[in-house]
Amino acid sequence: MHILVTGGAGFIGSHTVVALVEAGFKPVIIDNFSNSEPRALEGIEKILGHSVPFYQANCDDADLLREIFEKEQIGGVIHFAAYKAVGESMAEPLKYYRNNLGSLITLLEVMVEKGVPNLIFSSSCTVYGQPDQLPVTEDTPVKPAESVYGNTKQVGEEILRDTIGSGNPLKIIGLRYFNPIGAHPSAHIGELPLGVPNNLVPFVTQTAAGMRKSLTVFGGDYPTPDGTCIRDYIHVMDLAEAHVAALQKLIDTPQSNYYDVFNVGTGQGNSVLEVIQTFDKISGQEGLPYVIGARRAGDVVAVYADATKVNAGLGWTAKRNLEDALRDAWKWQKTLG
Ligand code: UD1
Repeated sequence: MHILVTGGAGFIGSHTVVALVEAGFKPVIIDNFSNSEPRALEGIEKILGHSVPFYQANCDDADLLREIFEKEQIGGVIHFAAYKAVGESMAEPLKYYRNNLGSLITLLEVMVEKGVPNLIFSSSCTVYGQPDQLPVTEDTPVKPAESVYGNTKQVGEEILRDTIGSGNPLKIIGLRYFNPIGAHPSAHIGELPLGVPNNLVPFVTQTAAGMRKSLTVFGGDYPTPDGTCIRDYIHVMDLAEAHVAALQKLIDTPQSNYYDVFNVGTGQGNSVLEVIQTFDKISGQEGLPYVIGARRAGDVVAVYADATKVNAGLGWTAKRNLEDALRDAWKWQKTLG
């Protein structure tokens, strides 16, 4: 089956393209390189030994989507394409609402029009905010969003629920990602942050590579065992494989109108200091330079997944641990020079 992957040159998208091919699917990528680079496509080609059909375009272009759906005989869509910088989303909310929700609406309209039944949507554990109970299940209440970015994920989920609720012939899964890190073990693809990374692991590997002087740990006085925030870090290849499992679930679902959401995490929480210690262990370098700084606005103290539903419902479990993910992230960083 041919699968359209929007944002397929991005971090999670590029790894999912590889996992799709390994599972026998035929991905077709659409990406405008707004937060990705052609080298991701070159990396995919090196891993697979062949190229993947690619369209450099915006995925809110309805005419182009119609054309691709027909020409490539698309049977399903994985919709990664979205902006994801929390700080920027607060400064430029309309840009975020237009892009993240506009493209989703266009995609849904064209899928209904063209009879393409299967959709996987990239959601985020950010929908839970600071949960009252840990680990979070899919029934944990969604909290008012802390950021415009977070709100685009919440509203995105509502759009999907309403689209299915009104009886449209679509089957949709929303995957609530926890914190994806790592890279393909070949080191041909990985994360390519633009400028100074916002996220922890790219900052760690860039610091270890000498590109940054030292890591600032955002807050050392949180009510956690070592005072730093706790997250559920998931290897990007495990996350990629969760998309394949979700797609298979959609294909196997007999109803023509279906929507569900799944947490995609390991179920394990690790603090920022544990990430640093684990990185020191796998890199074999002297201790990574870091300082404890002020808390970052909008950070939640701790969030990690209850993965029971995804384990049972999609037959998927994370196979790689934090060490594997940090080892692959470090191997990738070293190829960037
Ligand atoms: C962030 C977003 C989240 C989004 C995800 C997408 C916020 C509040 N959350 O997740 O909504 O889905 O990115 O990529 O921005 N840290 C440091 N020093 C650093 C960088 C991070 O100590 O230089 C800490 C953070 O305080 C946090 C942990 O590392 O405790 C993980 O941070 P990060 O990688 O940015 O992910 P999230 O904030 O969990």
